[in-house]
Amino acid sequence: MLASLPDGGRAEMSRAIAAAASAQSAWADTPAPVRGKILAAAGRLMLERIDLLAHLMTREQGKPLRESRTEIRYAASFLSWFAGEAERIYGRQIPSADPTKRLLVLKRPVGITAGVTPWNFPAAMITRKLGPALAAGCTMVVKPSELTPLSALEIARVFADAGLPTGVFSVVAGLDAADIVEPVMADMRVRKLSFTGSTTVGTALMAQAASTMKRLSLELGGHAPFLVFEDADLDIAVDAAVASKMRNMGQTCVAANRFYVHRAVVDRFAERLAQRLGELVVGNGLDDRTDVGPLISEPAVAKVEAHVADAIANGADLLTGGSRTVAGGPFFAPTVLRGVDPTMRISREETFGPVVAISTFESEQEAVALANSTPYGLAAYYFTRDVGRVLRLAERLEFGVIGANDGIPSTAQAPFGGIKASGIGHEGGAEGIAEYLDVKYLSIGSIEAAVD
Ligand code: SIN
Repeated sequence: MLASLPDGGRAEMSRAIAAAASAQSAWADTPAPVRGKILAAAGRLMLERIDLLAHLMTREQGKPLRESRTEIRYAASFLSWFAGEAERIYGRQIPSADPTKRLLVLKRPVGITAGVTPWNFPAAMITRKLGPALAAGCTMVVKPSELTPLSALEIARVFADAGLPTGVFSVVAGLDAADIVEPVMADMRVRKLSFTGSTTVGTALMAQAASTMKRLSLELGGHAPFLVFEDADLDIAVDAAVASKMRNMGQTCVAANRFYVHRAVVDRFAERLAQRLGELVVGNGLDDRTDVGPLISEPAVAKVEAHVADAIANGADLLTGGSRTVAGGPFFAPTVLRGVDPTMRISREETFGPVVAISTFESEQEAVALANSTPYGLAAYYFTRDVGRVLRLAERLEFGVIGANDGIPSTAQAPFGGIKASGIGHEGGAEGIAEYLDVKYLSIGSIEAAVD
């Protein structure tokens, strides 16, 4: 056993909201550079504690240590980026048609906010919400996944050590998510909820948020297409495929899931990718030689297994992997399937595992139609040397995050968010902090001219 924790519920969340309510106005009135300094200090502390935080993450979540370190750096980058953004919350003055009036646009923190975060990025999905919330002058209560509470609690310790006043950020960890979140949804004082998780839960939260008219950011499921054109640099495409597909063992919302490869290059692409994935070392994430750790749970492996079995039963060819590996744990071998078609489960559902499913196309038009043939709209990737095509596809693909010759586009400086069934709102970039700010319009009439 890794640790034992108290099982928080609605009572603890109500206390956290009350603490946030007591801290809210003082935090909103704290000068932005001071808020930024605390955020920057927390970011630095995360980096100083990277070994401790990364080990904890690997032990509670499974991802290899190298990846946990990368995630801690990614998590800290949201704090340093939004530390700077705190000082750039600008309003504006609008030239008035009426010369007696002054028209101003003001930005104010929305107030108390809540974050509900997933297990696949136990640190970065917290700081991606918390960074902009604190920078904007909001307080935040966080409910982390019941599978990864320890990383969240260590992040709370980082902020306390960085000098964040009591009540500005609280974590409530527990097993019953619906019970913990109930006071968040019912309380009018909580003005915003940011959720990362499944489309099913996101849809339910959206309905619940209506009664208090809460603002929402929903980062939901994806089913990312990965298009390889006949003019692509195949070395770049294969590297990007490995990076996107194998990050966190394929358990990311932005993971490339549906590979559409031009018929002229499919043999070379599939062969090289199968070779690369076949060489990866699967095992305990704490071992430095490990490239691929366990999946999060037994049901997660069972789903991957079912998708692969369904594809093979319906005619797909297995190039590598295809089964569980390392007896006794939820491990699945990196897998490449060829000859996948749109009727197979793997083409229709998010796999959330280390499986590359390859189909072919013959024209750009066909590739775009295949890519868009999903209710999801989170991430899309394509590989081409044609600059015109780079721009054309960015306009035609119905996705919020697009990587052209890039398998890992996510970064703190840029807006991350899906369209269609993948959610609403953005995290990261200038758009990320706007989600935590109310816009107020002030019209000042009848300012008397100065009299000497
Ligand atoms: C996610 O999969 O939910 C987030 C991935 C990212 O930030 O790149």
